[in-house]
Amino acid sequence: MRALLEVRNVTVKYGNFTALDRVSLSISQGELRVLIGPNGAGKTTLLDAISGTVKPSYGDIYYKNTVISKLPIHKIARMGIIRKFQTPNVIESLSVWDNLILASVKKNVSGTFAPVDHNKIKDILELVGLHERRYDLAKELSHGEKQWLELAMILTNDCDLVLLDEPAIGLTLKDIYKLIDIIGYFIKRNSSIIIVDHNMDFLRMICEKFEARVTFMHQGKILRTGTFDEIRSDNEVKRIYLGVERC
Ligand SMILES: Nc1ncnc2c1ncn2[C@@H]1O[C@H](COP(=O)(O)OP(=O)(O)OP(=O)(O)O)[C@@H](O)[C@H]1O
Ligand SMILES: [Mg+2]
Repeated sequence: MRALLEVRNVTVKYGNFTALDRVSLSISQGELRVLIGPNGAGKTTLLDAISGTVKPSYGDIYYKNTVISKLPIHKIARMGIIRKFQTPNVIESLSVWDNLILASVKKNVSGTFAPVDHNKIKDILELVGLHERRYDLAKELSHGEKQWLELAMILTNDCDLVLLDEPAIGLTLKDIYKLIDIIGYFIKRNSSIIIVDHNMDFLRMICEKFEARVTFMHQGKILRTGTFDEIRSDNEVKRIYLGVERC
C-alpha cells in the first residue's frame, strides 16, 4: 500500500498555544486509522489541518504526492478529501433523494457531467436505512436521520479520504452496527478513513474487523501507533488516561 496522505512535521498554533506539535502521520490507500487521545489532545485540530480549515504554522501535508496544506478548503475537497462535521451538512429544502443526486453529480475529465448511478444511490439509501424516506424533504428528518443522510452523501461521492470526527457519539448499539457497515462500504471501495472517537467498544470492533491501527495523541503530539490491544495495554497511554475524565 502506498501512502495516500503524508502529514509531515505539522505544527498548528492558536496564538501562543501549540495545538499540534510536529505531528507526522502516513495513511495508505484503503487504510482505516483510528485516532484517540484525551480531550484537547489535538485530534480534531489534526482533521482541521488535513481538510484545510486550519493552516499549519510549520510542516506540510501531502495528498497524492501534492502539497495541500496551503490550498483553500474547496480545492482540498475537490481533490477527494471529505469531512463529516457534527452538524449535518444537508440541503433542508431538497428531498433525501435530491440531496444524494446533488452529492453524486460530478464532472468527468472532459468537463461534461457523468451520468448519475441511480442503482448505487438506491443501495446506499438502503444501507443507511433511509430508502423509505427518499421522497421526504431533508428538513422533515430527525437530527439522527440527517446524520445518516450526510453519511449517505459522502458515500455517493467517490472520495479517497474520509474524515469522521466522533461518528459514534449518541448512537445506539444497533446504529453502531449500521455505522460499521458504512465503514465497510468505504473500505471495500478502497477509500482511506480516519476516525476520531472516544467509544472504546466501537473502536475495538472496527479495529478487529478492518485490522485498523490506532494512533494515540496527547498534548498536540503523537505518542504511539499500534494495534488496539498494544495501545490499550501501553503503560504510558494508561498513565495519561488515568488522570483524565474519559478515554
Ligand atoms: N480555534 C481555537 N482557538 C484556540 N484554541 C483552540 C482552537 N481550537 C482548538 N483549540 C485548543 O486546541 C487544543 C486541541 O483541541 P482539539 O479540539 O483538537 O482537541 P481534541 O483532541 O479534538 O479534543 P476532544 O476529544 O475534546 O474533541 C485544545 O486545548 C483546544 O482548546
Ligand atoms: Mg475533537
